Amino acid sequence: MSASVLSDWLAQRLERGNGQPIYRQLHRLLQQAILSRDLPAGSQLPSSRLLAQELSIGRNTVTQVYEQLTLEGYVSSGTGRGTFVADSAPDEIVGVRDVGTPATQSAPPAQVRRALSVRGARLVAGAGVSKRQWGAFMPGVPDVTRFPARVWTRLHNKYWRSVRPDLLTYAPGGGLASLRHALADYLRASRSVHCTPEQIIVTTGIHQSVDLAVRLLSDPGDVIWTEDPCYWGVRSVLHVSGLQSRPIPVDDEGINPSADDLAQPPKLMLVTPSHQYPLGTVMSLARRRMLLEYARQNRCWIIEDDYDSEFRYGSRPLASLQGLDTSEQVIYVGSFGKTLFPGLRIGYMVVPGVLAESFGTASAELYREGQLLQQAILAEFINEGHFTSHIRKMRTLYGQRRQALLDAATQRYGDALPAVGGDAGLHLVIQLPEGSDDRLVAAAALERNIVVRPLSGYYARPAQAPSGLLLGYACVADEEIAPAFSELAYAIDAIL
Ligand SMILES: Cc1ncc(COP(=O)(O)O)c(C=O)c1O
Repeated sequence: MSASVLSDWLAQRLERGNGQPIYRQLHRLLQQAILSRDLPAGSQLPSSRLLAQELSIGRNTVTQVYEQLTLEGYVSSGTGRGTFVADSAPDEIVGVRDVGTPATQSAPPAQVRRALSVRGARLVAGAGVSKRQWGAFMPGVPDVTRFPARVWTRLHNKYWRSVRPDLLTYAPGGGLASLRHALADYLRASRSVHCTPEQIIVTTGIHQSVDLAVRLLSDPGDVIWTEDPCYWGVRSVLHVSGLQSRPIPVDDEGINPSADDLAQPPKLMLVTPSHQYPLGTVMSLARRRMLLEYARQNRCWIIEDDYDSEFRYGSRPLASLQGLDTSEQVIYVGSFGKTLFPGLRIGYMVVPGVLAESFGTASAELYREGQLLQQAILAEFINEGHFTSHIRKMRTLYGQRRQALLDAATQRYGDALPAVGGDAGLHLVIQLPEGSDDRLVAAAALERNIVVRPLSGYYARPAQAPSGLLLGYACVADEEIAPAFSELAYAIDAIL
């Protein structure tokens, strides 16, 4: 695209008065053009003065956007030299999520960006975390109002009856023995995970488990396969550790590496076999076997993210990939964030026996672990049977809510906007027509106080990704689902 074609292209797409600041729109469009290679490496961008004139916008706006793109590694510039598209977009260097981020964060002001490191600036500018963590249709959040608070309070009071230094000091590494035992029993029985309590490392959740695995098993610059699409949160954890992500497409059997991918074994891969995030596919047995055999032959680590497999409607939860592994290549990670409540911040990982002690030591060394009192309460909560009974109750409740949401969507749109991935988990995906901009729909929904995530933002190349919306139903009261969907429908109809 030449400079004059670029100006026309931008002029056609900038929308004044759509609620999105011009700065954000211009930044997004230029990222999109670079990632899609419409603006190939080496192309010169128009000068800020010229572009501002042609688009009838302030020159400062253009300068700020160019500065931001420079910080993010999309372009490079030098005094008197002009601004050029960099040789490789940051996505290709570290896999930074681009324009379609499901994020709600705005880029930090220039002064802050200058203070941050390159990776810090990229992390913050591309952050996917939402300011809203509750209400229709926030994906990935369970109904915390149903948590059995009375039982928890009883156990909590019991532990506080006397001061126990062993539970109030730092943790020695790996977590409290009673919780590791309770977890080993639970994971063996319900997820067919092969493990002893010693192989379990208690963490603050999947984010920290992935962080620890990546730090201990790879070095900056190593390659990791990620599913395309995948969860933005762990992707940020990988990028900030300096790993190069290679996004691998997903089909209806799970991650599907091409011959070209297979020819270049990665150091690690990160997969969600029980319930692909966010599309909801289950990895087939054939694909599981293939992946395990490939990992064995090429000595790669597989991180299995088993974030919400307890919630499967109409069929039993599926066995883990770790349970099929005979060569100790799988690191299994899970969390109480969906089964109990996200703010608990307790998760766990199951590591091969030979690595268990190193992981425990590293965890205590890096994170200076604590929360042993919470862990003691949780162990007892599991041992007394409250955990499995809570899961059972919530599975029924979420199953009803999922159906209520499916009914609301079908009533309004029939087959025009099909839902996928709805038979498990806490969210489903509504597909939007090809070519529609799911980010605009999500922005319009937010103005109506409805949180939805644009599907395209979970892909490595949002500009070429399918359009859709992730809708979480777990934290929406039954009677609020239909009215909230009507609000969402206003936003969908206004944009499509
Ligand atoms: C696929 C996936 N993995 C991990 C997490 C986060 O887990 P945790 O809260 O334990 O860090 C989420 C949260 O939504 C998720 O969707």
